[in-house]
Amino acid sequence: MGKLAFAPVDFTRSGLHIIDSGTADGRWLVNLREQLHGKNNIYVGTDSVEKNLAKLSYPDITLEVGRIDTPWPKDWVERFDYVHQRLVLPGCEFIPVEEAVKNLVSLVKPGGWIELLEHDHNCPTSGGLDRADAMVRAIFTQNGFGYDYPLRMKGWLEDAGIVDLKQEVIDVPLGALNPNPEMAEKSTWQVTSAVKGVMPIARGPCSILSFRLPLGIPPEELEAIPDYTNREIKSRGGIQRMYIVYGRKPL
Ligand SMILES: C[S@@+](CC[C@H](N)C(=O)[O-])C[C@H]1O[C@@H](n2cnc3c(N)ncnc32)[C@H](O)[C@@H]1O
Repeated sequence: MGKLAFAPVDFTRSGLHIIDSGTADGRWLVNLREQLHGKNNIYVGTDSVEKNLAKLSYPDITLEVGRIDTPWPKDWVERFDYVHQRLVLPGCEFIPVEEAVKNLVSLVKPGGWIELLEHDHNCPTSGGLDRADAMVRAIFTQNGFGYDYPLRMKGWLEDAGIVDLKQEVIDVPLGALNPNPEMAEKSTWQVTSAVKGVMPIARGPCSILSFRLPLGIPPEELEAIPDYTNREIKSRGGIQRMYIVYGRKPL
């Protein structure tokens, strides 16, 4: 997306406490740290899957296991100047998603910022991502999560007391639509890997019984989705529509 932080956090200050929830390998934190080099900030990353957490050797970055749908450590309440979370909300299993957002808000210091970013899988101009998006919509419909959560984040943050809210919608060009050849290749690879990662969920547990997969997509069509996505993103490109919402906790 070409930008690490959308919220107008005052990064000229030193000693900021920054958390990235659902951080995976902590790449976002590492990149932000590089950008803000020498500011004595404290960076924390959490993820529900321990093996996703990279072994980083930066003294100011800590990565640890933590879920958005279980209680946060009590001493983290109002500790962070900037709470960042990207592409994690669908992993909320144990509590309603608006409650998880409220719990994240509890980590923000008065005067601090929170920023949530999610992919809208219902973008009408998704190009080569069309079948993968349809598959994801079918999964989220079937599991009851729904796929309109990116559009609801602003309201959830507002209900949790966040002010100065802004929503940005960015269409990220993938593959052939990205003018930078390196980014074109990287985005094709990233999207294809993500789609492959979703396949075990899409196949579902009752596919053998019903002879049709639980999504109502015939097995041969479903299995063709990763190759189709790879080919189409490479040749005609795709669009990943991102909803980015940020706001401030009042003082
Ligand atoms: C699509 S990846 C996004 C990683 C990173 N935020 C990024 O934007 O590159 C989703 C990450 O969220 C983590 N995750 C899924 N459910 C979670 C949950 N309930 N609590 C915390 N992390 C979760 C996954 O393990 C995975 O690392």
